[in-house]
Amino acid sequence: MPERQPIMAGNWKMHHTHLEAIQVVQKLSYQLDEKDYDGCEVVVCPAFTALRSVQTVLEADRIPIALGAQDVHWKEQGAFTGEVSPVMLAKLNVSYVIVGHSERRELFGETDETVSLKLKAVLKHGMSPIVCVGETLDEREAGRTDTKVSGQIRAGFAGVRGEDPLRCVVAYEPIWAIGTGRNATPEDASATIAVIRQTLRELYKGDADEIRIQYGGSVKPGNIADLMAMPEIDGALVGGASLDPVDFSRLIKYRA
Ligand code: 13P
Repeated sequence: MPERQPIMAGNWKMHHTHLEAIQVVQKLSYQLDEKDYDGCEVVVCPAFTALRSVQTVLEADRIPIALGAQDVHWKEQGAFTGEVSPVMLAKLNVSYVIVGHSERRELFGETDETVSLKLKAVLKHGMSPIVCVGETLDEREAGRTDTKVSGQIRAGFAGVRGEDPLRCVVAYEPIWAIGTGRNATPEDASATIAVIRQTLRELYKGDADEIRIQYGGSVKPGNIADLMAMPEIDGALVGGASLDPVDFSRLIKYRA
């Protein structure tokens, strides 16, 4: 079984101006040392308006935190008012791009088809997608969690081949757990992540064991250790608790 490096990513959603983002990333870096960076990969995903500022701070101060974006369009350029292209993100040294977050699917009409287009565009431009999947409370209660997430994986990864799947990260985010303070139990999260990995194995055989799968949804300093104790869980995609640099650093230091 390959060793998968844990990955802790902060999704700042529509929070933090570029000035606030600079302060947060600097304060976060003061909390972290080499041992923390060796223990897991750290990613911050600010709003588009803060990407350039955060990139500049990370590079000037040689902070080993990876830069992520929260969304992308799949075309390289064109008449798409308000959109941001993968070329633009790659030029900012963005390493990760969240695609198919449930807020984009539910509030902005994103479909499995557009998620798949975005996923492939991110890979084409040398970045890594963080592909989000997850079920609603109704779907969970109706026993449809496994079919929902495996369907999202199959649709999102359609046409992704060769070495590309190895560069992808999957985030299992049950929609009922996002921003609600109600996290999935480590056992439930792990069971669904096992279903996701099985789906990836059907697509990519042994390579599936190298793909990192995060859990997301009300991850906090108080529950991260129990979640990370599950061998199937390779990290977290964190909303609210990543906004504060001390809280986020406590998540990154979950072993302490
Ligand atoms: P919370 O951690 O605020 O529940 O958000 C989770 C999430 O949506 C991360 O992408």
